[in-house]
Amino acid sequence: MITVSSPAQIFFFGEHAVVYGQPALATAINLRTKVKGKSRDDNKVIVKSHGIGSLEGVIECEDNKWVLKEKKGDTKNLSYVIKAIEVTLNQVEEGGGFELEITSDIPPGSGLGSSSAVTTATIAAVSNLMNNSLDKDMITDLAFETEKLVQGPASRTGVSVATHGSFALIQDEEIDVREDLPQLNIVIGYTGSHGSTAEAVGRVKELKNTRPNITNPILETIGEITQNGMKAVKEGDLDKVGVLMNANQALLKGLDVSSDHLESLIKAAHEAGAKGAKLTGGGKGGSMIAIIDEKQQKIVKAIREANGKPIEAEIGVNGLELI
Ligand code: MEV
Repeated sequence: MITVSSPAQIFFFGEHAVVYGQPALATAINLRTKVKGKSRDDNKVIVKSHGIGSLEGVIECEDNKWVLKEKKGDTKNLSYVIKAIEVTLNQVEEGGGFELEITSDIPPGSGLGSSSAVTTATIAAVSNLMNNSLDKDMITDLAFETEKLVQGPASRTGVSVATHGSFALIQDEEIDVREDLPQLNIVIGYTGSHGSTAEAVGRVKELKNTRPNITNPILETIGEITQNGMKAVKEGDLDKVGVLMNANQALLKGLDVSSDHLESLIKAAHEAGAKGAKLTGGGKGGSMIAIIDEKQQKIVKAIREANGKPIEAEIGVNGLELI
């Protein structure tokens, strides 16, 4: 029996632009997805979860590839888990039955990296059950491969932060884990509505194809903001971080990935005294973040009154952990 857990995450700066080679700054937060696993003597695979469905299937080797077959159950939200299982077994070149039980504090579609968390934790659990524990870089690689297979274009940000934790500056698929960055006070506001990352990423791709002269400079400017934002975060300069977050949000709105509810939560946070606020992750629903000084409770209340779910999260927490 083994248990692993991976954290959720927020983007300070750079989502969407990072898919096109610009830098992004993200950090792990203290909401986690836990995967418990145990081996079976047969070739059955059973996945139980609180919230994302259930699955019964069998694992078989077909043309030298391990495939999960005869899948039954409520599997529509388990695509990352199914792909992660297959990708892992093919990496370790081992197959066999097992049971996984998934529990999570991260609402699916909240823009807080629920798919990266469940993908990395599933890969770590399954490889351990096959007696082949993989290092964090390999888990990141396999999780990145899984995300691309399930959702199309993606950056390594989500899976890197889920495995390594702390703060991460990502550019050109290279990850620089920054344990030197300070704790800053943030409040998350979850709209309660599902933001489809694939849909939002598709919208930016479409804009880039149809209006490259407008879209490319927006993506490049987000990159500049991230570089400046990195310095401001390091110096703990809340005013500067706030101004840069607001500029990043205006550009994300220009990329058509915000939503009315996100905008109303952002406005409420500003009115309650936030230093800056922006959506986090894919957008089109999901969540926003506000950077604050000491007025935490005022902003929590404002987000709640604007029909959002406030989450007071700790940032810079540990990545993937074997418990
Ligand atoms: C989604 O959490 C963040 C995006 O930048 C996509 C990605 O980086 O894979 C929109």
